[in-house]
Amino acid sequence: MRKIFCLLLVLIMMFNTACLSHANNSSHAMTKEEWDSFYSECVKNNNLPTLNVGADETQVSLCWHSDSDKAVAEVRVAENAEMNSFITFKGDVTPSDNDTQSVCRVTVTDLKEHSDYYYQWHTGDGFSKVYKYSTKSFCDHKAIVVGDIQITEIRDDGNNTDQSRVGLYWYNFLDGAIKQNPDISYLISPGDNTSTGSTDEEWQTLLMPETLRSLPVALAIGNHDKKGMKYNYFTNMPNEDYGRFFSGLDRNFWFRYGDVLYLSFDSTSGNAPDHMRFAKKAIEQNQDAKWRIGLIHHGIYGSGDAIGDTETEILLTNIFAPIFQIYDFDLVVTGHTHSQGRSHFMHSGKIKTEAPSGGRFVNPEGIVYLNSNVVCDVYDDDFDAEHLAYKLVEDEVTTYSTLEFKGDELILETRRGDNHELLDSIIIKKTVEHNDNTVGKFFRKTTYKIIEFVGFIYTMVDNLVRKISK
Ligand SMILES: [Fe+2]
Repeated sequence: MRKIFCLLLVLIMMFNTACLSHANNSSHAMTKEEWDSFYSECVKNNNLPTLNVGADETQVSLCWHSDSDKAVAEVRVAENAEMNSFITFKGDVTPSDNDTQSVCRVTVTDLKEHSDYYYQWHTGDGFSKVYKYSTKSFCDHKAIVVGDIQITEIRDDGNNTDQSRVGLYWYNFLDGAIKQNPDISYLISPGDNTSTGSTDEEWQTLLMPETLRSLPVALAIGNHDKKGMKYNYFTNMPNEDYGRFFSGLDRNFWFRYGDVLYLSFDSTSGNAPDHMRFAKKAIEQNQDAKWRIGLIHHGIYGSGDAIGDTETEILLTNIFAPIFQIYDFDLVVTGHTHSQGRSHFMHSGKIKTEAPSGGRFVNPEGIVYLNSNVVCDVYDDDFDAEHLAYKLVEDEVTTYSTLEFKGDELILETRRGDNHELLDSIIIKKTVEHNDNTVGKFFRKTTYKIIEFVGFIYTMVDNLVRKISK
């Protein structure tokens, strides 16, 4: 019996290792045949890690599931593939929401720019294969934006789809985008990373691209993520803020990368007082950040017919747009509508400066809103609006955007996912510093108190309705 047990144990370990070793920084576009065996091996293991952005460019963190009786929250990091002289980073083990596994979270610190690192995490059965993570410049750098990845078995239109097929599409889409842009430092997603938000398989499929072992991600929460609680167990976002009145999955987070401050808001929450308090605190702690970028799921001044929703127009525009304006955000990245588009420079609900594609703008007033497309679900209908400077008219075309921070410039480009053709671009040059203490901003902050009060009442009523309807 003991021999049989040992043999079984070895087979299980080989099975798990096969899944992970396939993902050992050897990314290449997969054929359907390759994918089918890879997918069927990986999807049930529920052990792929999320590599999250850190609080700043010198950090990343890992989050992974491990059998509860063997879970060890440890990551080894070395400067050579042989893992000589490795440093061990330790973290926390917390319960997962399944019966057999726990969640390990470890933050790796003190990373230097332009350096190669090699790492392993404790799988519960020893340390994983060695993976490589290379830092690039901590000043000038480039990020990729991918919206509504929405890994699913059930599409938005209610029709079933094949999650394996969806996963292959996502895998090859990301592989192609990063091969085309090898200088990318991290990925940001404005939410709806998964569709039901309630299965481990969705997250495993999301995490399958080998590219994600060496590409930290910042994942905002979307309304689909919020249909379940899985986001809670598969992410470890930096500087998370749960607020005083948030509930369930609600949370904001912020992080720095070089001169850029990102603030990610949970736009499914109308909780204005917590959103404003979060923004104020993060901005005050990062006064030296040259660029302020917002990340929210719902599209404000975006594209797609969901923009016409009363919810968006009344609730979100009144809650978030004033915060972005009070704190001089340069760009806000949104999603949700499954439609690629970009606004002119918007200020107080109006176009401040027109921003045609190809333009270069020096110290512009107003904020550009970038609405990202969808990866794995249905595309939205064509939509026209005065605020749009660019919209993708073609249906069924996947896209991604890049944000390149270079000297005083932010270069925003959007490309097709299939052939990387440039669809839209603008350059914002900025030579002035933020001033958060003007008289105009003082009055805006004062009048925003009314929004905070209304938002608070709305949140309390909304929370009550949700409790009653459960
Ligand atoms: Fe959404």
